[in-house]
Amino acid sequence: SGMFTYDPGFTSTASCESKITYIDGDEGTLLYRGYPIDQLANHGDFLETCYLLLYGELPTKAEKDDFVHRVTYHTMIHEQMSRFFAGFRRDAHPMAIMVGTVGALSAFYHDSTDITDPHQRMIASLRMIAKMPTIAAMAYKYHIGQPFVYPRNDLDYSTNFLRMCFSVPCEEYNVNPVLSRAMDRIFILHADHEQNASTSTVRLAGSSGANPFACIAAGIACLWGPAHGGANEAALNMLSEIGSVDRIPEYVARAKDKNDPFRLMGFGHRVYKNYDPRAKIMQTTCHEVLGELGIKDDPLLDIAMELEKIALNDEYFVEKKLYPNIDFYSGITLRALGFPTNMFTVLFALARTVGWIAQWKEMVEDPSQRIGRPRQLYTGAPQRDYTPIDQRR
Ligand code: CMC
Repeated sequence: SGMFTYDPGFTSTASCESKITYIDGDEGTLLYRGYPIDQLANHGDFLETCYLLLYGELPTKAEKDDFVHRVTYHTMIHEQMSRFFAGFRRDAHPMAIMVGTVGALSAFYHDSTDITDPHQRMIASLRMIAKMPTIAAMAYKYHIGQPFVYPRNDLDYSTNFLRMCFSVPCEEYNVNPVLSRAMDRIFILHADHEQNASTSTVRLAGSSGANPFACIAAGIACLWGPAHGGANEAALNMLSEIGSVDRIPEYVARAKDKNDPFRLMGFGHRVYKNYDPRAKIMQTTCHEVLGELGIKDDPLLDIAMELEKIALNDEYFVEKKLYPNIDFYSGITLRALGFPTNMFTVLFALARTVGWIAQWKEMVEDPSQRIGRPRQLYTGAPQRDYTPIDQRR
């Protein structure tokens, strides 16, 4: 029937009203609650950004201190949670571990999360933001076979996270402040991006009144795919596969070939038809991190910069308005920070959690929101009669 608008991939359907994030894809603008992403990334910190996304305003000093204190209070996870990790094969992908363990949090906070109670909604939000670094670091430690490191509440969010990832009980470990600042900036860049696939998944899951921890697990599952958050991992793997600058034209030719499914990972975006503003900041951060670590030549960075140059001057990419997106330079940066490729999307999930939870909260508090229920255009068999099995041919 022609009763419904057919819009596969929701390219022209707005599913909600939102006050959180604004994107102008033609201009390459990204605002959180009205503030340009570069101002937040260059002058703010991640927890301040979390406050902004959740409450709509930048905090005063007193509000900020109180918020940091309240988030920090929830950094530990229930000790029983560590047994969930032990159930995974040690070669399990950390994103698989994240989907499972974050989903499991819903069991720990099911009875204490009445989503009709604003106070309980807020506690659930704080818990989620506070526990994600702990869980992400545990997924990493489990994967490499090192002991779990407990959170340290005297450290800032990103310093604590890097310490949980990279310290071991047998030696002193001090996080380099330049690197933790870079980590924090990367988290800010990923914090929200309006109604992308994973955020829409969280909203749709939450629209039934489901437990918010379970909804975030659904968002993590959606983020995992290479067309979405998994692109940072895929982009670095692609740069490694290209291997040297002289092989770039071959890969550019493949990306343009309609008979080859290969795409340039970290290129193109549903909304941005201009340079992704996050990609620019990420590129600067990448140079800062490599500089701090004294990495003079990163062959993958050389390949990335040359690939960008070639693609931005190629008719195919120009015509289709395909520019580098956030995932193009993030992999090189995260690798320099010490993370293996399969942790990249986990870091994305960690940072995006605040966006998911802010959007979930906005939806739950919006009286016009009903359960999400897309319609379809049915193209299957018309009604027909059941045939007994011995009469089927
Ligand atoms: N390399 C080569 N060709 C491309 C690429 C690419 N990376 N991206 C899009 N195209 C072509 C595509 O073949 C299509 O051509 P045609 O019109 O001739 O059929 C045209 O450009 C439009 O592409 P689309 O797939 O219809 O666009 P979309 O809005 O559905 O997809 C995208 C957006 C991001 C999934 C896609 O650009 C892509 O697959 N990029 C690579 C993966 C990637 O980097 N994803 C990260 C996105 S940003 C962060 C995040 O969301 O996590």
